[in-house]
Amino acid sequence: MTPGVSRAGYRGAVGGRFVRAVRLAPDAPAAGYPYDLPAVRALAGPRGLVLDRPVTFLVGENGSGKSTLVEALAVATGFNPEGGSRSFRFATRATESDLGRHLVVSRAPGAPRNGFFLRAESYYNVASEIERLGVGGYGGTSPHERSHGEAFLDLVTHRFGPRGLYLLDEPEAALSVRGAMAVLARLHELAGQGSQFVVATHSPVLLALPGAAIVQLEEAGPRRVGYDEALPVEATRRFLADPARALRQLLD
Ligand SMILES: Nc1ncnc2c1ncn2[C@@H]1O[C@H](COP(=O)(O)OP(=O)(O)O)[C@@H](O)[C@H]1O
Ligand SMILES: [Mg+2]
Repeated sequence: MTPGVSRAGYRGAVGGRFVRAVRLAPDAPAAGYPYDLPAVRALAGPRGLVLDRPVTFLVGENGSGKSTLVEALAVATGFNPEGGSRSFRFATRATESDLGRHLVVSRAPGAPRNGFFLRAESYYNVASEIERLGVGGYGGTSPHERSHGEAFLDLVTHRFGPRGLYLLDEPEAALSVRGAMAVLARLHELAGQGSQFVVATHSPVLLALPGAAIVQLEEAGPRRVGYDEALPVEATRRFLADPARALRQLLD
């Protein structure tokens, strides 16, 4: 077992450090986008989506609503819907759903000291804002002069820190497999330093983070699953176990 990590999670961690749960407000619409998505069903019920570990992963098929959920959580906790840290206020095009305004967030006492919301699709605009505000805290190089993967590694290495709240949507999009392993190690370090993460991901590498919760968004409803059961792990394993057979099934 990894040092500092018990079976239940990180030593001394009692629930999500900053956000303990998030649920739909009673006045939220009952149907229509995004209220009928599997991800939003995870917010229904008296407790809603419980975030009781330093790291919570959201997994599910394309279109299950992971991005919608992470974005709404970002809006409800005070981030710019287009991404960045809490001080980012730039706006290029408002595309966020109104879900963020219909969430009840149960917070733990104490405010995060740091934070970042990484959107899957729009890092370019965040990079421009970082360049405008100054690259000092980001490793010293403009993210526009780094590859997407390098810029993301700069971000988690230099800009993320202890006692932060980080909402990440498919951070692996930019990363090589080794890059994902480096990010796994950094997330583990930051989780041990009092940070909280909610991460939508398809990466079997990131999902291996010790002590993390994995919430799988399925048509039938959300379900907590173990590593071996998680869709990205199960599907990747099945493919790699016999690529020729998988290809026959796919291509015939
Ligand atoms: N503005 C919108 N209006 C209507 N439907 C939308 C809108 N944005 C996204 N959707 C739909 O919501 C679903 C969930 O999208 P998304 O949260 O991006 O899923 P995921 O991140 O899990 O792949 C998709 O089927 C998408 O087509
Ligand atoms: Mg998405």
